[in-house]
Amino acid sequence: MDTYKNKIIAGDCIELLSKAKEPFADLVFADPPFNIGYQYDKYHDKVEKNNYLAWTKDWMAACVRVLKPHGSFFIAIGDEYAAHVRLIGEELGLTLRNWIIWHYTFGQQTKAKFARSHAHIFYFVKDEKNFTFNDDEVRVISDRQKIYKDKRANPFGKLPDDVWNEFPRVCGTFDEREGWHPCQMPESLLARIIRASTMVGDRVLDPFSGSGTTCVVASKLKRTYTGIDISPHYVEEAKKRIRISVDEPIAGEVPLKWNSHFDSELKWLYHENKITTDELEENDILSGLFANKFNLRVGTLDTPYLPKDILKRLVYLRKGAKLGPLQRNNKKTSISKEKQNGKVVSGRDRCSCKTV
Ligand SMILES: C[S@@+](CC[C@H](N)C(=O)[O-])C[C@H]1O[C@@H](n2cnc3c(N)ncnc32)[C@H](O)[C@@H]1O
Repeated sequence: MDTYKNKIIAGDCIELLSKAKEPFADLVFADPPFNIGYQYDKYHDKVEKNNYLAWTKDWMAACVRVLKPHGSFFIAIGDEYAAHVRLIGEELGLTLRNWIIWHYTFGQQTKAKFARSHAHIFYFVKDEKNFTFNDDEVRVISDRQKIYKDKRANPFGKLPDDVWNEFPRVCGTFDEREGWHPCQMPESLLARIIRASTMVGDRVLDPFSGSGTTCVVASKLKRTYTGIDISPHYVEEAKKRIRISVDEPIAGEVPLKWNSHFDSELKWLYHENKITTDELEENDILSGLFANKFNLRVGTLDTPYLPKDILKRLVYLRKGAKLGPLQRNNKKTSISKEKQNGKVVSGRDRCSCKTV
């Protein structure tokens, strides 16, 4: 299936996947037609219930066959068939890790019942003990940190709940919206799934790629991808979307608001503490302490920048040769000294000692 690497292909997913000789996907994300009457370019989403269920079982089995042994399988589905998909997953030998509710804003209006504002996302794995889950990649700032300023809070934040309400549906007025597809997933939702369950270079498969969201996000996050859609028109448009999205941020994710003052404080902190970016990357405690010092120094303790974001910015500065060489001696770093002495010297105090 290497011929399908970084490709979006036009065709029927069951047929195309049956040609794969061996498992190739580290992650499958599937957002099939929900059988609710949408008219897609080459598919009318209104099928007799038993036929839809038989077809669902077939495409899910085709995906399981190409999923690597440690792979993850996410499926988005509506209320009508959620229970069936959950049971088919079990029949196919998958283990359910989360039944996620995607609670979206901008749901469709109804006249005589409550407006629908959610979809289901099943998170299955093939092997219940051996799978990728990059918790630090998806942690969010906890209420303990944000509201209660609790010092015992994990400096890396907490894992998101299984009700996701931070991703609005992609409506017509959104910049992100590709007008040629009726049903587009938000990039930021896909980014959470891909970051959590794959490593850089891993292969992400989307058997119903539609407007190409999954492949676009996989490519932005330096993963490889294979997309399939029955519509040659969608496939051509999705390929264009990928071409112009290179080096763009994930749509909807607010880039860090850095200013030159933050950068100079960060550089100073780096030289002052003499800790390399590699060391920060490898040592959670150090990077937590470093982040704390940074937030203290720039006055963002109330809404702190996360260690991973600070490290990302440091790496960016290092790559652009904006950090300068680190003058190190063989003594322990000042942060570890502080720990050893059991005394915490605040970043602000240090800052006021600056003589440069
Ligand atoms: C809900 S949409 C996917 C939207 C996608 N997640 C996105 O963000 O744009 C479902 C897609 O499945 C495609 N489709 C329907 N039957 C298919 C089949 N048998 N094989 C591959 N694609 C199919 C439709 O053309 C449609 O684009």
